[in-house]
Amino acid sequence: MLFNILLLSGLTILGGVVSAQDCNTLSEIFLDYGIDVYWNLGTNDCCTAYKDFEYPVIINCNQNNEIIKIHITNLYLENKRINEKFCKFNELISLELMNNGLMGEIPSCITSLTSLEYLNLSDNALTGSIPMDIENLSSLKELTLSKNNLTGEFPESLGNIGSLTGLFIDSNQLSGELPHSLDNLFSIKSFDVSDNQFSGDLPEEFYNMYTLEHGYFNNNKFTGRLDRDIGVFSVLSELDLTNNKFEGKIPSSIGFLQNLEWLSLAGNKFTGDFPSNIAKSKYLVYLDLSNNKFSSVPTALKRLAYLGYIDVSNNPNLKGELHLADEVESCYMDTNNVCVEGGVCQNKVRYCSNPDNNDFDLEAEAEEEEAGFEDVAKDDADELEEDEGDESDDDTCWVSVHGYPCCEGESLEKVYAEDVDGKWGYDFVKKTWCGISTYSEISKKYSVLSNAAANNGCWSLKEGYNCCIGCAVYAITDEGSWGVENGKWCGIPSYCSL
Ligand SMILES: *[C@@H]1O[C@H](CO)[C@@H](O)[C@H](O)[C@H]1NC(C)=O
Ligand SMILES: *[C@@H]1O[C@H](CO)[C@@H](O)[C@H](O)[C@H]1NC(C)=O
Ligand SMILES: *[C@@H]1O[C@H](CO)[C@@H](O)[C@H](O)[C@H]1NC(C)=O
Repeated sequence: MLFNILLLSGLTILGGVVSAQDCNTLSEIFLDYGIDVYWNLGTNDCCTAYKDFEYPVIINCNQNNEIIKIHITNLYLENKRINEKFCKFNELISLELMNNGLMGEIPSCITSLTSLEYLNLSDNALTGSIPMDIENLSSLKELTLSKNNLTGEFPESLGNIGSLTGLFIDSNQLSGELPHSLDNLFSIKSFDVSDNQFSGDLPEEFYNMYTLEHGYFNNNKFTGRLDRDIGVFSVLSELDLTNNKFEGKIPSSIGFLQNLEWLSLAGNKFTGDFPSNIAKSKYLVYLDLSNNKFSSVPTALKRLAYLGYIDVSNNPNLKGELHLADEVESCYMDTNNVCVEGGVCQNKVRYCSNPDNNDFDLEAEAEEEEAGFEDVAKDDADELEEDEGDESDDDTCWVSVHGYPCCEGESLEKVYAEDVDGKWGYDFVKKTWCGISTYSEISKKYSVLSNAAANNGCWSLKEGYNCCIGCAVYAITDEGSWGVENGKWCGIPSYCSL
């Protein structure tokens, strides 16, 4: 293979054949990275060659055989840098080089790729700062530089990319204040600057990011108050301010956040009464107010029907009764001054007035409910019961519940990606991603997650059944909707219908 490359690279195609220049440049990069080249050198075959690759490499070309997409992931290219030859692909729309162990700086020439819409360099060991001319990437929709060792500031010019919908620069060593240019991010939906060393107050312009749906500012050193009109964020669904140095009261305009589902203010210096207007954020499932200086939480919390997780612990001035809706999955309040009055927490908590409730008996209740349930879905249940009797249950792969095939044969052997859902392989025969992790591995991980975060509306735990991972409904009873996964009944989580 090496011999072929040396022999053929730089070959000029004559007589009306479309230039193979992009494929040649790509083969030079592959040579540098030690990746075998599987296309005929000197031709445009790289545009169609991806199906033969041994590695998760995806190349796409446009009609003129110019490369528009390059994805090279999970290759552990030790001691390699981002090759400056990537900057020669003028038509490039998507460049993803995740998790390759790449080091060195992001070459500034990358900002000349003005067609670029997706740039993902996450999970490498990149150092240096974000290129100053980053705003030249004026078509950019998603920029992901997470999990590197980038230093320096959030460049003013980064705030000027009006096309940006997702900005992920979390888990680096970035510092300094956020720039005033933020209000030019008028398409932004996801903004993640978490796990850095940013400091200072959020600039006024932050309040102009009306389109924000997911904001992660956690684990920095941000200061200041949220006393401006936070209600402008009408589509915000997740906000994480955990572990900063924010202070002051939470404005009652928080009630205008009608789409809020997940809010953590933990680990700051917030004070005062938490506003009762929060009840208007009726989809709220997760509320963490722990490690602050709040003096009260409102009784209106009981109107939050979807609330599954509440933590008010370590607020030294907090006392009194916590009024909650029924069936809150996890409640935390480890000071002696707070107890639950009204509502039921599924974990063990202190109740104010009814000491019998202190040992809320999940098991007895589950048995009762189970009896009723089995009448309704008897036939199906009987059928399943037989399967369940068999201890050597087939442990199929989990992705089948999402409609992906399970990996077989050779495709089981190499993990090409791993995300919260588990390990993925690639089936080069069927040309599709496939699942490697088994169902029981994932459901174990998943139930840890769901118990900890409890923000998935897993109502069936109370009935003694696990929550489903997927959303396919097999039966509906008074209790809720049921699925069948890995040969067992499970409750369809409420996020499936949201
Ligand atoms: C970015 O754009 C400016 C203005 O068009 C230009 O002067 C500069 O050279 C560009 N930077 C890069 C790295 O292409
Ligand atoms: C970028 O790569 C990371 C890590 O592989 C992945 O989790 C993330 O979804 C990617 N981001 C985008 C926007 O594709
Ligand atoms: C970042 O740098 C620190 C020390 O400077 C090192 O310990 C760490 O492994 C580096 N992280 C990455 C992702 O390269």
